[in-house]
Amino acid sequence: MAVAPVTYGASTRPPRGDYSAARADYTCEQGWESYTPEQHALYARLVRRQMALIPGRACDEFLHALPRLGDGRAIPRFDEVSDRLRRATGWEIVAVPGLIPEDAFFALLAARRFPVTVWLRRPEEFDYIVEPDVFHDLFGHVPLLFNPVFADYMQAFGAGGLKAEGLHALQFLARLYWYTVEFGLIATPGGLRVYGAGILSSVGETAYALESLKPQRLGFSLERVLRTPYKIDDYQDSYFVIDSFAQLFDATAPDFAPVYERVAELPPLGVNERLPGERSYPPNAAQATPG
Ligand code: PHE
Ligand code: FE
Repeated sequence: MAVAPVTYGASTRPPRGDYSAARADYTCEQGWESYTPEQHALYARLVRRQMALIPGRACDEFLHALPRLGDGRAIPRFDEVSDRLRRATGWEIVAVPGLIPEDAFFALLAARRFPVTVWLRRPEEFDYIVEPDVFHDLFGHVPLLFNPVFADYMQAFGAGGLKAEGLHALQFLARLYWYTVEFGLIATPGGLRVYGAGILSSVGETAYALESLKPQRLGFSLERVLRTPYKIDDYQDSYFVIDSFAQLFDATAPDFAPVYERVAELPPLGVNERLPGERSYPPNAAQATPG
């Protein structure tokens, strides 16, 4: 059954990816044999560059799980990653042609299936790409699915997404996804570390998120996050810092229905706005960045 293509946000660019071969749940075959040697080499270059940046910047849970994606010298085979993931946390990854509708996305997460885009960016997009590709989806998102607490958070998020759709609260829940799964920071005894996939797959934002004086870094609070709009095309103005994945899981476990109602009555928070008594973290000292 053919499914409709999906574009990002309000974008008018044509969708990337071939939706004609996708199933009704938007999953498709990875087609690993169709990647060219140049694409494997480009993927390997992306991995090498991020690997040079993330020691002392990515959280330990991410760094420890990264080797389970393979040696980084080629685009991994999804079925091999899924075998390891199933044994670790009961998750698997599934191939998708590109962005998929929110309900399909949440339904997959609720079933512990993480959708990974099959296509890789073009060489001229090496430094920056707006839409998620196989490098962002795999390298950025999949390592933390090996962590049991984070894995449970992602499943709960899927179920919570299906519920938020019925409550017309998706714009609020999307902020929680953005400021945790994509752009989350975590406090450790050694300083701040990154766990968000949008940061960890970005060459510029990895150091910026931790070390720049420009953005604010605020202690995680559910209501605060749900009230904070985000940018999809530039580095963030605000990051939110959790103490542990257990804290994140516990803070998001209660019923959101009354929280959505409260937040809908409150104004969104502006760029760099601080609420009274809000905890803010200083940046880490700048590390030398490999040239
Ligand atoms: N507790 C949320 C609800 O009732 C569901 C949820 C859990 C959402 C974890 C996001 C993350 O809607
Ligand atoms: Fe992502």
